[in-house]
Amino acid sequence: MEPLPEVTDPRIIDGRKIAQGIEAEVKKEVEKFTNERGIKPALATILVGEHPPSKLYVKLKHWACKRVGIASEDHKFPQETGQEEIIELIETLNRRPEIHGILVQLPLPKHIDEREVMMRIAPEKDVDGFNPLNMGKMLIGREGFVPCTPKGIIRALEEFNIDPQGKEVVVVGHSNVVGKPAAIMLLNRNATVRICHIFTRDLKSHTREADILIVATGVRGLIKADMVKEGAIVFDVGITWQDERVYGDVDFEGVLPRVSLISPVPGGVGPMTIAILMEHTLMAAKLQSGEK
Ligand code: GUN
Repeated sequence: MEPLPEVTDPRIIDGRKIAQGIEAEVKKEVEKFTNERGIKPALATILVGEHPPSKLYVKLKHWACKRVGIASEDHKFPQETGQEEIIELIETLNRRPEIHGILVQLPLPKHIDEREVMMRIAPEKDVDGFNPLNMGKMLIGREGFVPCTPKGIIRALEEFNIDPQGKEVVVVGHSNVVGKPAAIMLLNRNATVRICHIFTRDLKSHTREADILIVATGVRGLIKADMVKEGAIVFDVGITWQDERVYGDVDFEGVLPRVSLISPVPGGVGPMTIAILMEHTLMAAKLQSGEK
């Protein structure tokens, strides 16, 4: 991937800069924790198959671990691996005290039941926040390990001193990874939230009313300028790979003149997601060593 240009437009959220800030804080805390407790936080990743973007994301996660002083283990399986083998590894990792976080890169091949796999990750090692116990806690407002991408969005809002309370939030996409948890986390902060998805009849009638619009569908360029309210804040969480490049769900050039803030693709929520994962791995190590 080519290096990204410097962000100078104040309307563009510089996800890399926010991520660097989070990572600097995590690095400091990891050093302190390791010195005081003699424990190095450690993350184990599991990747099944040859999906090129997933391979890249996992590599980026290991690089981030290195930057902040977290140990990491890389478990790779061929596409045709059976579910039982993956679950067996998860159970071994659950039992190993020197491993604090477990991440199964999604999507998994079709013959593997993602929900079953997520259920097997010990809740206290579930740094991605996909275990139903952690999801359920989030639903009742007890946010511990929550999905990293929506948490990155919340962090970006905080960075810009934007309080979601009372705001009209529209989430486009109802995945368990982004759409649903983003909606719940904003509801927890007293926003008025609606979730649109592939069966929504008149998408534009909803998106045009959003003070904060979060789009995570994977449909390149789905959101055009006339679908966005003047002054809106837009988070583009879409990723489409075409010709060795990534594209978001938002027609960035068209939408930019209307927004007060927008997260670009690439360089928006992606780096923030990884930085939050680092934060969660440290949090998991502290939790497992008896610190809060
Ligand atoms: N695939 C797309 N986003 C994510 C994520 O946040 N975590 C994992 N494990 N897989 C993903």
